[in-house]
Amino acid sequence: MRGLRVRYGPAEPWALDGVDLDVPPGRRVAVVGPSGSGKSTLAAVLFRFRDPDAGTVHLDGADVAALPADTVRTQVTGMPQDPHVFASTVRENLRLARPGASDAELRAVLTRVGLDPALLDTEAGIHGTRLSGGMRRRIALARALLVPPAGRTGTLLVLDEPTAHLDPGTRDDVLDDLLSATAGRSLLLITHDLAAIDRMDEVVVLAGGRVLQRGTPAELRERPGWFRTLGDRHPSAPVQGRPATISSVGAQR
Ligand SMILES: Nc1ncnc2c1ncn2[C@@H]1O[C@H](COP(=O)(O)OP(=O)(O)O)[C@@H](O)[C@H]1O
Ligand SMILES: [Mg+2]
Repeated sequence: MRGLRVRYGPAEPWALDGVDLDVPPGRRVAVVGPSGSGKSTLAAVLFRFRDPDAGTVHLDGADVAALPADTVRTQVTGMPQDPHVFASTVRENLRLARPGASDAELRAVLTRVGLDPALLDTEAGIHGTRLSGGMRRRIALARALLVPPAGRTGTLLVLDEPTAHLDPGTRDDVLDDLLSATAGRSLLLITHDLAAIDRMDEVVVLAGGRVLQRGTPAELRERPGWFRTLGDRHPSAPVQGRPATISSVGAQR
């Protein structure tokens, strides 16, 4: 991504204000930052839900603006902020991610994300409206867990706060599973959950639509700045190697 700028109206401030970002093949990049910093807007551009007002996105060297949105969506997959659930059963919604999956596999993944395995035959309704928002996000998370591990090269997995709706106890375990299930894949992980940050190759801190800091988790801990301040302010933050959430800092600002 080069020089990305996005705003939601001519009189609105820039939600993304000149963002450059690379996700090299097989690397894991975390995007963190306070609420409203533009993280979900970045995901929306990658999913082709929104075209940038300026700047470019290249996928394997091809400018995505020149590709049909449907083609891009086969190469950029994952979990948007408000995931789409299809008017079918929960089983069919999960099999989208892994067509040959057995019921036993599907029940196991439902349990993993804190859903009742008996939901398999439940009809989701149009746009998943027969399910609660939290259930839709959990189903989307289950789909992300089911995506075959050895993804094609050139595919990018984008996860927008995949564990935000889970309780803190299961959150770390599910994120751990998710990172294991997606090993070797190019991953852009938007997260409030810093427990697993050391498993990421790079961390990008967004604020006000701009990149405030970037580097490996260890580098960012060394440098003064937003990421380290988070640790200074919160004794349980990742500087001490323990979990923290960014939302708590956002609330303090
Ligand atoms: N659909 C929308 N319409 C208008 N403004 C929006 C919309 N979505 C996001 N914004 C604004 O864009 C900015 C970035 O939002 P967002 O990308 O959702 O940030 P984050 O995911 O980091 O919380 C915020 O100021 C937000 O209010
Ligand atoms: Mg968001």
